Amino acid sequence: MQVVFKVIRQKPNETPRVEKYNLDVEPGNTILECLNRIKWELDGSLAFRKNCRNTICGSCGMRINGRSALACKENVGNEIKKQQEISGSKIPEIIVAPMGNMPVIKDLVVDMKDFWDSLEAVDPYVSTKSRKIPEREFLQTPQERSRLEQTGNCILCGACYSECNAVQVNSDFVGPHALAKAQRMLADSRDDNTDNRLEKYNQGTEGAWGCTRCYLCNAVCPMEVQPMDRISEIKQKILPLKKAKDSRSIRHRKVLIDLVKQGGWIDERKFGLFVLGNYFRDLKGLLNIAPLGLRMLAKGKFPTSFEPSEGTAEVRSLIESVKESQK
Ligand code: SF4
Ligand code: SF4
Ligand code: FES
Repeated sequence: MQVVFKVIRQKPNETPRVEKYNLDVEPGNTILECLNRIKWELDGSLAFRKNCRNTICGSCGMRINGRSALACKENVGNEIKKQQEISGSKIPEIIVAPMGNMPVIKDLVVDMKDFWDSLEAVDPYVSTKSRKIPEREFLQTPQERSRLEQTGNCILCGACYSECNAVQVNSDFVGPHALAKAQRMLADSRDDNTDNRLEKYNQGTEGAWGCTRCYLCNAVCPMEVQPMDRISEIKQKILPLKKAKDSRSIRHRKVLIDLVKQGGWIDERKFGLFVLGNYFRDLKGLLNIAPLGLRMLAKGKFPTSFEPSEGTAEVRSLIESVKESQK
């Protein structure tokens, strides 16, 4: 069948352009096989990364029809089916673009420096610092080893990082791949650095609390690492810590739940004062939000009253039920 491949091509500091390539392909061909044919038969200047061709090395991450994926995993038939379901288009076409959140070097090749640096930032090595190094390897029980299986499947392809909303707006956030690895370290029975790790992953919005829970990393991960779920596991480990209790991120979560319980939705006025102002105890925090409050007042956008929602009792009982079920 004839398929039009629309490839978004670009060099650094140049405006991206769309290049079209017509190919006669089979539905079972992978996108990577098609890109190889474009390069070998039609245009040798097209740049993309590849290696194993078998969903192992993580090299061929790119955006295929708008979502980050591995070119060697996705095939023409499925892509066309999805495209037609969305657009109703009769002309089979597949759009291939570079991954997001990383600058383009050329065409589909992106600069992954920030991706690797943020992985390094979570200290992704098993610590044996304070242990007596045994003569032989550390043994793990099958149960201990099984806790590492899901996160161990990560092939560092960058698909989750490419889609992450939090990375897009917060350059300090380490990203889903790094936090999935962080959770792998916390789960490892050989690692003895848990307290330091939790303190680190609890910092501001760099670590676990920077995630906005948009779910995109879970949706695109080709290896089912489900990074967002791994981030939730880190948060569950942080929450009971005495030292962490007074951090702004944890207060954010607590105030949000308390206010929703009180009024069914969030009273934004109290939210700012309680979270940033730490219930009027943090003068610096209060001074930081004062200009915003004054600007809102001047523009008539500062709510003077708060009406609880009609379903407050129902919301409250839902929250209580969830809490009960978690005991
Ligand atoms: S977590 Fe999944 S999407 Fe993210 S880098 Fe690892 S394998 Fe790729
Ligand atoms: S769920 Fe969190 S980590 Fe995953 S893509 Fe969304 S913001 Fe990023
Ligand atoms: S080429 Fe190795 S994962 Fe696609």
